[in-house]
Amino acid sequence: MESAVVYGSQFGNTRQIAEAIGRGLGPEARVLEAASFSPSQLRRGSLLVVGSPIVGWKPLEGLGAWLDALAPGSLDGVRTAAFDTRVKLFIHGDAAKKIERALEAAGAERAADPTWYYVEGTEGPLLKGEIERAEAWGRSLAGGQ
Ligand SMILES: Cc1cc2nc3c(=O)[nH]c(=O)nc-3n(C[C@H](O)[C@H](O)[C@H](O)COP(=O)(O)O)c2cc1C
Repeated sequence: MESAVVYGSQFGNTRQIAEAIGRGLGPEARVLEAASFSPSQLRRGSLLVVGSPIVGWKPLEGLGAWLDALAPGSLDGVRTAAFDTRVKLFIHGDAAKKIERALEAAGAERAADPTWYYVEGTEGPLLKGEIERAEAWGRSLAGGQ
């Protein structure tokens, strides 16, 4: 597998962003929920993008558990990038940087700075233009491979 986008999502907004990043990465990119994905599916040089909503200043519980279960060295040689979704008017906290730290603790190399996408309210929708911005981010990540 050359590239994968792995996500957690309660209301579907993070899933939509993950799918948009996957379209930007190209037709071979796989987009899947963290529970269905093991890093052993990645070979060296692969690109792994991981995203979650911020929930109580942290990644969503299931995604956080998936990150906690990453063994040291399990992402050696894998390039990674992290994103989160958040409500525009909240005092945010952060999930993307926490995701990035967990990926790097498992051996990953950072392919891009962590980034985030805005939803209007807890259940969405995504702010106008966020899907297009996510696709463009996917294209830029693919260009860096
Ligand atoms: C229990 C709960 C706690 C939340 N905490 C935060 C928070 O600390 N900061 C923030 O910006 N958004 C927070 N949110 C808003 C989520 O980030 C928003 O619901 C999410 O981006 C939607 O993504 P999803 O549709 O993929 O679940 C919270 C939402 C819920 C349900």
